Amino acid sequence: MSRKRSESLSPQKVWHTHSPEETEAVGAQLAEQLQPDTLILISGALGAGKTTLIRGLCRALGITEPIRSPTFTLVNEYTIRRPPALVGLPLFHLDLYRIETPEQLRTLGLDELLERGGITVIEWGEALPALGFDYMPRHLWRITIQLYPPDERREIELSGCTS
Ligand SMILES: Nc1ncnc2c1ncn2[C@@H]1O[C@H](COP(=O)(O)OP(=O)(O)OP(=O)(O)O)[C@@H](O)[C@H]1O
Ligand SMILES: [Mg+2]
Repeated sequence: MSRKRSESLSPQKVWHTHSPEETEAVGAQLAEQLQPDTLILISGALGAGKTTLIRGLCRALGITEPIRSPTFTLVNEYTIRRPPALVGLPLFHLDLYRIETPEQLRTLGLDELLERGGITVIEWGEALPALGFDYMPRHLWRITIQLYPPDERREIELSGCTS
C-alpha cells in the first residue's frame, strides 16, 4: 500500500517482550498515541501475539469485552470509552487470515468501516494491497510481530506510522 499524500513519518520503534502481559502493555502504550481515523495493520505469524497486542490496546481504550481473533466472525466492533479525544468512536477488529480474494474482502465492507473515522485494527493486514484495497484513512500504522519459538520472546516493530 502506498500513500500519495506527503505525510510526516514518525521514527521507527521496536519493543522486546517476554510475556503476553508485556505485549499487552505495549498495546496500551500504543493506544496513548492514537488519533481518530487510524488504520493499524498488524502482521506476524500464527500465534505471534497480534490479538494479545490488540487486547492491550483495547483495554487502554476502556473496552472491557473479551478480545479474541475475529477469525470466523471476520469483524468485531467495540465502542471506545476513553480518552476524551476518542470516546464514542468505534474500534473495528478484523482478521484477514481467511480472506483470499478482492471479492471476499468486499464482503467485509471495509471502506464503510473506515469512513466512520474510528480505529480499525487488522490482523494479517499486510494482505490488503494484494487484495486490491487502496482506501486511505488519515493515519496508517504498520506493526510487525516476530516470534522466537519456543521462547515467549517477541519483537514488536512499529513502522510506517504516518500522521
Ligand atoms: N511475549 C508474548 N507476547 C504475546 N503473546 C505471547 C507472548 N509469549 C507468549 N505468548 C502467547 O502466544 C499466544 C499469542 O496468541 P495471539 O492469539 O495473540 O496470537 P495471534 O498472532 O493473534 O495469532 P493468530 O494468527 O492465530 O490470530 C498466546 O497464547 C500468548 O499467551
Ligand atoms: Mg489473532
